[in-house]
Amino acid sequence: MRSVRYVLGIETSCDETAAAVVDGMGRVLSSVVSSQVEVHGAYGGVVPEIAARRHLEAIDPVVTEACSRAKVALPDIGGIAVTRGPGLIGCLLVGTSTARALALAMDIPVVGVNHLEGHAVSGWIERPDLPYPALALVVSGGHTALWRIPAPGVYVQHARTRDDAAGEAFDKTAKMLGLPYPGGPALDELAERGNPQAFSFGEVRIKGEPAFSFSGYKTAVRALMHEHGIDPLPDPAAAPGPAMADLAASLRHAIVRELMRRTREAIGAERPRSLVVAGGVAANRLLRREATALADECGLALSIPSLAYCGDNAAMIALAGLPRLARGIDERESIDAEAALVLGGPEAERRSRRHL
Ligand code: KG4
Ligand code: ZN
Repeated sequence: MRSVRYVLGIETSCDETAAAVVDGMGRVLSSVVSSQVEVHGAYGGVVPEIAARRHLEAIDPVVTEACSRAKVALPDIGGIAVTRGPGLIGCLLVGTSTARALALAMDIPVVGVNHLEGHAVSGWIERPDLPYPALALVVSGGHTALWRIPAPGVYVQHARTRDDAAGEAFDKTAKMLGLPYPGGPALDELAERGNPQAFSFGEVRIKGEPAFSFSGYKTAVRALMHEHGIDPLPDPAAAPGPAMADLAASLRHAIVRELMRRTREAIGAERPRSLVVAGGVAANRLLRREATALADECGLALSIPSLAYCGDNAAMIALAGLPRLARGIDERESIDAEAALVLGGPEAERRSRRHL
């Protein structure tokens, strides 16, 4: 084991340019996130080419800011952890090439990190003592999955979505209602003042392996809007009426109920000691309340990161990369971005066991 005093984390997989400095004990010294939400808001979704160009402009100042907030000089960094996938390829390449260039110039190692591993590991940022085996529910704009984590660095997929991610369901339905971009937080806020029992959404039925499915909510919301005469907002600044608030509350209730139903089944099957709920959608107020109740009921230790670590950030990437840097892994010459990188599965478990 090498001791690595400071790790620089870099994350550019989607629409946040992020850098962070974590010390050798995994303590976060700084976490800087430069969001592009305003840029993409005008288009109602992330435009990959614009996102990549913005990352290029932002990455150097963001890295400098992360070092200065951590009061760590760049030459004192002992290793770099960078997101290599999954994500938008042009965006990922900005991160991996910056990391590689810095590592070569400074003669320090670099490791590539799976973005989803980063989200899972974010459960340990504020709770470093969280016990294993853990179960992690990662809910973001692009992914929704449950992993069993028997030991640090080992991920066994329990279930994932067959179609849309939970965040995507929030974003797409919010767009149909004419709510401001990004839809998830806007819909969450509106749902707080609606009646979750006003409209009913059927339970999702899936045959075979445990899995999620969120693609049906778009059609269901469209039908309910039509049936109950709920028109989309004429502009995102308009005030939604009570029927729209009820629809938002009912939809949020249905999505969270699906997430919790599968998580409860996974707890029964996997018998973890702790539960992590992470990713952008973990900011959802109802999900946080329901996950807290479920963990209480099952007697599990729980970690839902604070809001700063739910959305994309580089502290989670640095923390995920730290043990591999400490083992002396160096991918300076070989690191590559991979848009469709996967995490977990039985083969992955065998491979990671060999690396433990
Ligand atoms: O993890 P993240 O920042 O980026 C990805 O890796 O995708 O997640 C972004 C997602 C978006 O779909 C956004 O609408 C959703 O997280 N989100 C929320 C809330 N805050 C963010 N969804 C529901 N309720 C929220 N409060
Ligand atoms: Zn993410």
